[in-house]
Amino acid sequence: MRKDLQISNQEIVLHIKDLKKSFGDNHVLKGFNMNLYQGENLVIMGKSGSGKSVMIKCLVGLLEADSGLIRVMNKDITGLDQRALDILRADIGFLFQGSALYDSMTVRENLEFPLRRHKDKFDDNIDTEALVSEALENVGLLNAIDLMPSELSGGMKRRIALARTLILRPKIILYDEPTSGLDPITAKEIILLMQDIQKKYKTSSLIITHDVDCARAISDRMILLIDGIDYATGTFEELASNEDPKIKAFFKH
Ligand SMILES: Nc1ncnc2c1ncn2[C@@H]1O[C@H](COP(=O)(O)OP(=O)(O)OP(=O)(O)O)[C@@H](O)[C@H]1O
Ligand SMILES: [Mg+2]
Repeated sequence: MRKDLQISNQEIVLHIKDLKKSFGDNHVLKGFNMNLYQGENLVIMGKSGSGKSVMIKCLVGLLEADSGLIRVMNKDITGLDQRALDILRADIGFLFQGSALYDSMTVRENLEFPLRRHKDKFDDNIDTEALVSEALENVGLLNAIDLMPSELSGGMKRRIALARTLILRPKIILYDEPTSGLDPITAKEIILLMQDIQKKYKTSSLIITHDVDCARAISDRMILLIDGIDYATGTFEELASNEDPKIKAFFKH
């Protein structure tokens, strides 16, 4: 509880209120609420198919919500035109579920891509080469710069995807299952990397995960997405000791 008191003074960088989204009869989100505070790591856990990716896609405008309020750094995204949305999106890094690298591009080209797409964010004489190198150094993979994605291991792909997200210096990073499909040791390395990045750039992070170890290691606070709503909110310890069977189910190994 003290942690909540502490952060309640912080600025809210992402705010979701009463978010609803259905696909036909499939009512996925039925009134989901969330606040992400400046500088915190907020973990969202929910069963497979519970709507975690749908929620994050509504947040970045890849899916249109049926109703509800989404505010990103105090701007209501439903009221924004395409250009304003693009500018705002440059402040939000999105690490997709999987890694979503472009298979036909080298690592270097994969990293240059967002720089070209968000040219507006930089002045004309940006040193692309230096930014690409710095981003790769941040994830310890400068030596992979000329490789193709097919030549990378799963853990390396995840690191490169993270470097590609970081290159735009986002204020907020959304991670969709950053450790899924990785062995426990590689998963731990990715978690350490996420922690380093947060310290270095003071980003606010929303992390979607199934991985209890990841949640324990990285979360300041957690929200459990159950039955389409923010069923429970609290620190890892608070939720892990909760007696509600629906909550307990997440924490037993
Ligand atoms: N574009 C879409 N069209 C129709 N249904 C969709 C679409 N995207 C997601 N859904 C449905 O929404 C529900 C939630 O999907 P979502 O991908 O958000 O789950 P998730 O919580 O991210 O699961 P996982 O942990 O497996 O990634 C599922 O029933 C899915 O079939
Ligand atoms: Mg998902």
